[in-house]
Amino acid sequence: MLKPLISRMGGKSKLRKTIIGMIPEHSCYVELFFGAGWVYFGKEKSKVEVINDIDRELVNLFKMLKYHAEEVRRLMTYEICSRDIFSEYKNIDINSLTDIQRAIRFIYLLSQSFASKGDNFGYGTTGMPGPQIFNTENLLKIKERLRNTYIENLNFEEIIKKYDRPHTFFFCDPPYFETKGYKDKFTEEYHIKLRDLLRNVEGKFILTINDHKQVREWYKGFNIIEAEVGYSVCKDNKGRRKFKELIITNY
Ligand SMILES: C[S@@+](CC[C@H](N)C(=O)[O-])C[C@H]1O[C@@H](n2cnc3c(N)ncnc32)[C@H](O)[C@@H]1O
Repeated sequence: MLKPLISRMGGKSKLRKTIIGMIPEHSCYVELFFGAGWVYFGKEKSKVEVINDIDRELVNLFKMLKYHAEEVRRLMTYEICSRDIFSEYKNIDINSLTDIQRAIRFIYLLSQSFASKGDNFGYGTTGMPGPQIFNTENLLKIKERLRNTYIENLNFEEIIKKYDRPHTFFFCDPPYFETKGYKDKFTEEYHIKLRDLLRNVEGKFILTINDHKQVREWYKGFNIIEAEVGYSVCKDNKGRRKFKELIITNY
């Protein structure tokens, strides 16, 4: 199993083995909300694979790894952990950067920020500065893994419409419902749109989402499994709680 290069809020590091064990037979694997890609990087290759995320910077990073992994690796070795550099990267006009520089900036901001949100410089007295930035070991393996994968940068609706077939399996891990901290607001309207599309797909799907009364209502009639996962996206201990998550399937 490969470890992703970046962290992302809601990443499935703790749940990936369970999810992978539940993936049904398929020949086309489609991940609608890729993020860091814990499941994709952990599972066996499928015949055809598609990864999608609406975040342009994330998709640019994977494209740069696919085509220019050596150069990304070379540039990463120059990076050091500094509040000033963090601030420069955060405030720079990305249109003034090359695509490779944009990829480095993206890794830098995620790996050096609190809870990988890219907003505030992360520092502490008990851990060394973001090790990922110096850890380039996995990079070539990740590049190899991405070689035969379609990388998409579309809204989930379009991906479902384009790739839905009886032999398709969709892994769907959207931003949680009514949960603070996500950069893009994934509204109730989006959640219902996703449910309506998933209800009618020819293929199979797994959806992972926070355990919420409303979500259970939307997916009444589907198979719902509960899973308990620990998350720590808060600086104080009060926010570090165990959360229940739902794994919903149509098979
Ligand atoms: C919970 S994260 C996915 C985490 C991922 N499963 C992992 O293991 O790292 C949700 C992702 O959905 C993406 N996203 C948000 N709105 C989207 C949309 N309308 N269409 C596609 N992707 C979207 C976000 O950019 C984010 O990376």
